[in-house]
Amino acid sequence: MPNGGEATQLTKGFPMTQTVLHIDSSIRAEGSVSRALSQKITSRFEGATVLRRDLADGVPLIDGAWIGANFTPAADRTDEQKAVLATSDAMVAELQAADVIVIGTPIYNFSVTAAMKAWIDLVARAGVTFQYSETGPKGLLTGKRAIIAIASGGTPSTVRSTLLAATSATSWASSGSPMLSL
Ligand SMILES: Cc1cc2nc3c(=O)[nH]c(=O)nc-3n(C[C@H](O)[C@H](O)[C@H](O)COP(=O)(O)O)c2cc1C
Repeated sequence: MPNGGEATQLTKGFPMTQTVLHIDSSIRAEGSVSRALSQKITSRFEGATVLRRDLADGVPLIDGAWIGANFTPAADRTDEQKAVLATSDAMVAELQAADVIVIGTPIYNFSVTAAMKAWIDLVARAGVTFQYSETGPKGLLTGKRAIIAIASGGTPSTVRSTLLAATSATSWASSGSPMLSL
């Protein structure tokens, strides 16, 4: 597909995108297919402010202290609990600020990277990014587009459908996608 067509397809419905959150999670700094794909997608949103989150720089794992802080009402949190939630708060703020979220992830051992799963744990905040309802969890960050750029050695659709469900992504690109070619 010519470049103009790619750009139209990726930005369709979001022509005035102001902020793109660009996330990567490959442990490879050089030669990463998912990084190349996500960069190519991000560059299509010309003029947008790009927020960068490289999960290879390190992502904390949630633990008991984090759960305790998260389930404590915001007004009642101690300074220590606020500090425990600081990284999560920053990541959630990035999501809230973004019109478009571009996620680059490889498949490692039949799933997303450990860093990507850790990020999902950190941004899944009941009452902030989603809420429970009688029909199941309901996302609270509406009106955004998530585009996932995935690279794998061959693991197919089960991971793809899991990721799509977890992120409510509206677009999908992979290293073999006809939508994008490297
Ligand atoms: C530790 C590790 C585990 C992997 N596990 C899988 C896998 O389960 N299924 C698969 O299709 N590819 C697997 N691969 C291949 C990667 O998904 C593939 O090389 C991809 O291009 C890596 O992403 P990157 O190029 O952005 O670094 C694995 C690679 C590594 C390094």
